[in-house]
Amino acid sequence: MADKDHVLIFDTTLRDGEQSPGATMSHDEKLEIAELLDDMGVDIIEAGFPIASEGDFEAVTEIAKRSKRAVICGLSRANFKDIDRCWEAVKHAERPRIHTFIGTSPLHRAIPNLDMDQMAERIHDTVTHARNLCDNVQWSPMDATRTEWDYLCRVVEIAIKAGATTINIPDTVGYTAPRESADIIRKLIEQVPGADEVVFATHCHNDLGMATANALAAVEGGARQIECTINGLGERAGNTALEEVVMALKVRGDIMPYTTGVETTKLMHISRRVSTVSGFPVQFNKAIVGKNAFAHESGIHQDGMLKNAETFEIMRPEDVGLSETNIVMGKHSGRAALRSKLKELGFDLADNQLNDVFVRFKALADRKKEVFEDDLIALMRDQETGEEYDHIKVKFLRVICGTEAPQSADLTLTIDGKDHQTTAQGDGPVDATFNAVKALFPHNAHLQLYQVHAVTEGTDAQATVSVRMEEDGRIATGQSADTDTVVASAKAYVNALNRLLVRREKSDPDADVKQVSYKDAG
Ligand code: KIV
Ligand code: ZN
Repeated sequence: MADKDHVLIFDTTLRDGEQSPGATMSHDEKLEIAELLDDMGVDIIEAGFPIASEGDFEAVTEIAKRSKRAVICGLSRANFKDIDRCWEAVKHAERPRIHTFIGTSPLHRAIPNLDMDQMAERIHDTVTHARNLCDNVQWSPMDATRTEWDYLCRVVEIAIKAGATTINIPDTVGYTAPRESADIIRKLIEQVPGADEVVFATHCHNDLGMATANALAAVEGGARQIECTINGLGERAGNTALEEVVMALKVRGDIMPYTTGVETTKLMHISRRVSTVSGFPVQFNKAIVGKNAFAHESGIHQDGMLKNAETFEIMRPEDVGLSETNIVMGKHSGRAALRSKLKELGFDLADNQLNDVFVRFKALADRKKEVFEDDLIALMRDQETGEEYDHIKVKFLRVICGTEAPQSADLTLTIDGKDHQTTAQGDGPVDATFNAVKALFPHNAHLQLYQVHAVTEGTDAQATVSVRMEEDGRIATGQSADTDTVVASAKAYVNALNRLLVRREKSDPDADVKQVSYKDAG
């Protein structure tokens, strides 16, 4: 049993988050995120869905082996094969957990075509099986918030009797609202025999924008585990955002007297890493980790802030890992200053890494008068995304654009060490550039998303470009930053292509995740 006022944080960025289309992460990226979560003090890490693919199985296994403090959990549908596979992966952890689920609402029961009694029996058998393998078993009635009340109570009781130690109540389609969310947990605890012996968890989706409110309300109702993801990543509108619930509990301890074990100064760094590796940019006005979350634009606000920061700030930027000042660096800044600034931003570099970054920093400082923190973060992202996948590199690009069509791009790509050059035309400079890439490296991948963000203010600002591509069900995201938007676009496109190639070569186990359907949950 959890302590009365302590709320366990269950992070599912690597499972529910990663299942959102386009957010697929590589094996190494998953290990890195798991390590950051563990270091930050997350209690339970849902590392993946081991039966979904060989790639997921390997990632969960490796995360389990490397785990330090956190419980490592794997997801499995309600059948013995899934549960056995899940156990094979999580059993290497110091503290393993099996999470098994089945859809219990009328709509979900219809999919495996089980009547209420048959489903109840399935729940009993599968939870018993999981508990025979592992002492720590979580059970979820998927779409709980649209399940008939009596039936929900009945199946929760069965799962508890069969040995579940955590009962998670998913609001799978983001349908509930705060009062109802609290009532469901409160009434389950009151009415279901044995409820006082297990931990109740809340798992909310954000379809109506209430995931954070619903999760906090569930805690008021008695839940002591919140399931969430970094940046609220997840299918459709996403899951409850970890940083939001953790900071809400910290800031409003006066009315919500619950603690978590999360070291909040690590939030910003992990948010940035998840954004980079998933290719999902964080919206500027996102609570806690958005670029503007601590920015004060209007004169009145700025004046108030200078006199007393608390006038308009309910939490300090340092509390979430933002340094107090956005110190500007320039071309005269030295290696030591760069190292210390990067360390402050969460990037602890070895000497050889620092040398590489320093060269890139100098090149940027030559083009840009002032280099801001956001520029350095973009530079680091670029460095990291570029490193792992380097079959194709952008060597030279010159575009002709303007009011007179056609726009054209003269491009040289280095493909596996050999230079290839072409000139292509298109509807605008970016289209011309992408056509040139296609001409030099023919492929059938389809461009799903093209996004540009200015990293800082000013016409000399760097642009961060994200590109998402799809090929035969495999999805890859590429990112790049440059003061030249078209160069950043070319590099982001090539980065996505490189990632697709890696997946193609490994016959992409990750892509299979999308093919294991919840429909088979029965
Ligand atoms: O949203 C949901 O119902 C889930 C379950 C698998 C717990 O993610
Ligand atoms: Zn979910």
